[in-house]
Amino acid sequence: MSKPKVLVTRKLPDSVQQRLQRDYDALFNHDDHVFDRGELLAKAEGVAAILPCHSERFSADVIDALPDSVRIIANYSVGVDHVDLEAAKRRGIVVTNTPDVLSDATAEIALLLALGAARRASEGDRLVRRGAWTQWSPSFMVGTQITGKAVGIVGMGRVGRAAAQRFRGLDMEIHYHNRSRLPEAQAQGAHYHASLDEMLGAVDVVSLHCPATPDTTGLINAERIARLRDGAILVNTARGALVDDDALIAGLKAGKPAAAGLDVFNGEPGGDPRYRELDNTFLLPHIGSATTETRAAMGERALANLDAFFAGREPGDRVA
Ligand code: DGY
Repeated sequence: MSKPKVLVTRKLPDSVQQRLQRDYDALFNHDDHVFDRGELLAKAEGVAAILPCHSERFSADVIDALPDSVRIIANYSVGVDHVDLEAAKRRGIVVTNTPDVLSDATAEIALLLALGAARRASEGDRLVRRGAWTQWSPSFMVGTQITGKAVGIVGMGRVGRAAAQRFRGLDMEIHYHNRSRLPEAQAQGAHYHASLDEMLGAVDVVSLHCPATPDTTGLINAERIARLRDGAILVNTARGALVDDDALIAGLKAGKPAAAGLDVFNGEPGGDPRYRELDNTFLLPHIGSATTETRAAMGERALANLDAFFAGREPGDRVA
């Protein structure tokens, strides 16, 4: 029997590519460039599956233009905001993602961003590198201690809970806002807020962990920023779309929030250049899941979904 043909849009870890090569008729992207719409559609000709990352956009018009041969889009990502799921459903194309396996790595970055923003890590690093560190004084590079303070998790899914677990390690009081209250075994004493607006005024660090959807786009806007406590810190490891950049940049300039730690941006790669000019930002280039362990595990999970699909079983991580 011939092996299913799979288009792999980006260069994946060697172990994952080797497995793809062994079990599938895989079409690789050896120089790892980002396909534009035309190249994506041309390369998809005759393939049964596409294994993309969030760097490729599957808008409704791309999905509508995909060749009939494409039966599954097995994402190498947990977020699926780059895929129009309704359009995929209409065309009968199955869509899967890779949940669970990147929760710990992303939660590590949430903690890093919170600490980096609170303790002025970017500013300090820049100072040392340019040889401008010339003093120690009681008032030099003073930041905020987050140990023992309150953190508000927006979206208490897998990543949110993994982040909460790490913030507990700093003796922080955990608050969360979620579509619904979690069972106590998952909430582990965290305070539930049905209203995001109410939670924002009750915490010192706000950490975003919800998916980007039409409902959450621009969730952190000027009105909500105004509700933050004085000295509050905003952390985003989820998606740039959750934040209204104009509002956040104006807020950071005015000192509310006092600082922001951002790993994700509108307009990636790059993001809004105004963030780079601010001293009270700690910025990373979307590396939440970027560990050797996690990137291999994401590949295994995407492969498990493909394996199930082509064996005639329901893929474990089907989202459409
Ligand atoms: C995801 O999987 O959604 C991440 O943001 C990409 O690493």
